[in-house]
Amino acid sequence: MYLHGTSRINDHGHLEIGGVDAVKLASDFGTPLYVVDEALVRQRCREFVEAFKASGLKFQVAYASKAFCVMAMCRIADEEGMSLDVVSDGELYTALQAGFPPERIHFHGNNKTPQEIEMALDAKIGCFVVDNFVELQLLNALAGERNRKVNILLRITPGVSAHTHEYISTGQQDSKFGFDLGNGAAYRAIEEASKLPNLEILGVHSHIGSQIFEVEGFKMAVEKVIGFATKVRTELNVLFKVVNLGGGFGIRYVEGDSPLPVAQYVNAIVDSINTSFAGHDYPVPEIWIEPGRSIVGDAGTTLYTVGTYKDIPGIRKYVAVDGGMTDNPRPALYESKYEAMLANRATEKQEEVVSVAGKCCESGDMLIWDLELPKVQTGDVLAVACTGAYNYAMASNYNRIRRPAVVFVKDGQADLAVKRESFGDIVGNDVIPERLQKQTAHA
Ligand code: LLP
Repeated sequence: MYLHGTSRINDHGHLEIGGVDAVKLASDFGTPLYVVDEALVRQRCREFVEAFKASGLKFQVAYASKAFCVMAMCRIADEEGMSLDVVSDGELYTALQAGFPPERIHFHGNNKTPQEIEMALDAKIGCFVVDNFVELQLLNALAGERNRKVNILLRITPGVSAHTHEYISTGQQDSKFGFDLGNGAAYRAIEEASKLPNLEILGVHSHIGSQIFEVEGFKMAVEKVIGFATKVRTELNVLFKVVNLGGGFGIRYVEGDSPLPVAQYVNAIVDSINTSFAGHDYPVPEIWIEPGRSIVGDAGTTLYTVGTYKDIPGIRKYVAVDGGMTDNPRPALYESKYEAMLANRATEKQEEVVSVAGKCCESGDMLIWDLELPKVQTGDVLAVACTGAYNYAMASNYNRIRRPAVVFVKDGQADLAVKRESFGDIVGNDVIPERLQKQTAHA
């Protein structure tokens, strides 16, 4: 298994993360356990921020909190000078509860409810990324009721589709998100928005996909944006002060994944904005981006305890762990691949090939196919790498399995960031209607 960030093998032959022995983490906090390498998260934030600072342009790096939204993470994003992208009232609430400065919060989503918009307006967030015509009118009306003028970006679908998994590419024309550039919807949106008194158009937003390993898609998006920007400047007298290019920067999950260094993505974006805008004699806009996965993905490791196994001679050996699709639905949803190791026997040689199964009542609940490990035994601690993004965030209580705890590790210290769910949490929102309550037997 590739060792990310501060992960290393210690003198006990155990995996260690953030200076803390993973076997000790498993016994202190129980398994399954999400472990977050705080130094690596901060390093990734800094890589983005520093690369932009070096460019001399105005910028905002908004952490896409959908990747992993808990209050402790919002604190780190704030401390690192990031902005924050939220897509629901729940993410917004989490950020506000964590004391994240509202003026650096951007609100996304293709179906923001009136209540969500009101909550965000009342919190005085920095910017709404407007997705469609219904929202444009609704936001204008709700802002008007409060005598407010609010900053907006218009989300456009530039018609660029990233080379990535079909389910998570969104820049193409046939998308539920945004105003289409090709069919004129984006133009009409600017035209309409510029006439609405309570909206201030800052510019446009484009997100072309996720887990992207090259810069071409971003460059193509910039080309589309500049073409559009010059058209609306001339015809509608609207100037874009901000161009937001979304997120999607890839990370290394398994061997063969070849992400670029963060600075390379940033520099390519900066260069292409600089040249294309200057080339059209257009004031160079502020650049905003929204990395999610690349901030937290490789900083996360999930620890499991091996329970049962089943050998089907000549076919395969299934090794079952105490979690599965409930804490990591990505293999089942996207056929995502992961690397793993035995945290308690990290120096032992690999002796067998096993497939790691979750404990849910579903054949599709497999975490890793064909993984080389030492001869696995019940009680071993299996560490799966690169689970920081879209794991906790997408976890469920399927089979009424309690969601794991999240621990942040740094400099030899481990701190709880999310408690393990209790049985009380599991039934906490259940209500037994009066007529279904168990009758006490009459004497
Ligand atoms: N901005 C927008 C508008 C987005 O839709 C997304 C991701 C991001 C930023 C952050 O993208 P990132 O840097 O994390 O790639 N659940 C899927 C990923 C869905 C991504 C949705 N949008 C997965 O587990 O791979």
